[in-house]
Amino acid sequence: MIVNKGRNKKEKKIFAPKAMVFAKSQDVDCHTALILIRQIRKKPDSILTLPTGVTPIGLYQKLTEAFEQGLDFKRLKIFNLDEYWPIRKDNSSSYASYMLNNLIKKTNLKKENWQIPNGEAGDPYQEAERYDFLLKNTQPVDIAVVGIGPEKTCHIGFNEKGSTLDSRTRYVFLSGETRRANAVFFNNPEEVPKGAITQGIANILEAEKILLMAKGEVKAWGVKRALKGLINSDAPASFLRCHQNVIFILDKKAAVFL
Ligand code: GLP
Repeated sequence: MIVNKGRNKKEKKIFAPKAMVFAKSQDVDCHTALILIRQIRKKPDSILTLPTGVTPIGLYQKLTEAFEQGLDFKRLKIFNLDEYWPIRKDNSSSYASYMLNNLIKKTNLKKENWQIPNGEAGDPYQEAERYDFLLKNTQPVDIAVVGIGPEKTCHIGFNEKGSTLDSRTRYVFLSGETRRANAVFFNNPEEVPKGAITQGIANILEAEKILLMAKGEVKAWGVKRALKGLINSDAPASFLRCHQNVIFILDKKAAVFL
């Protein structure tokens, strides 16, 4: 199959991700947590890429419970998918605060083993380069967990429409649609930053295994577009079909169009 890589067209193997559909959205958390817990048990110094947003909150609760029951996070390494720019780390809407409050402070994860793009960096382009370098030098990521943007955004991380298969960590401008969708996390929609630093599609695809979590009808169009539509930059999540080890973990509302 030919995948549209932006200007160049390149032969690329296409795969069919496994889709697991659960009746209840809590089962999406439980199943994703189970895969991560098994991975951490098997390899305590695993490297994970992790997302933020409403969808994975239950996943972090399950991981916290696993820690309380004895799972050791001391050697685990975490890379976050993305962060707004500019944003202060102590802004309660930053992804840095989200991760601290939902996972880092609740487990024995070492702060020095946790990486997230710096929303306070003076130059977002340089910061993206630094983060990309760090990721490249800590490879391979064992499991990358991603969410998917709502409605027709079909983004992963902050890889908006137009993102290419070979895109790497970079500074991006957020679309109006994404800023509106993410306004729920801010006191005032005007406060949503206009940009972000995100791992690129190529970074995500470098992980050994990828789990996409999606819940609710608001994700149904994007899930179908990603799994069944054309593989191109109009729907960045569709590029996940260029990886041979991807599982879509869905509740039945997100799977309604499959
Ligand atoms: C944001 C994040 C994505 C996330 C998506 C869905 O745009 N940058 O990484 O997957 O939102 O978030 P939610 O789970 O809140 O729907």
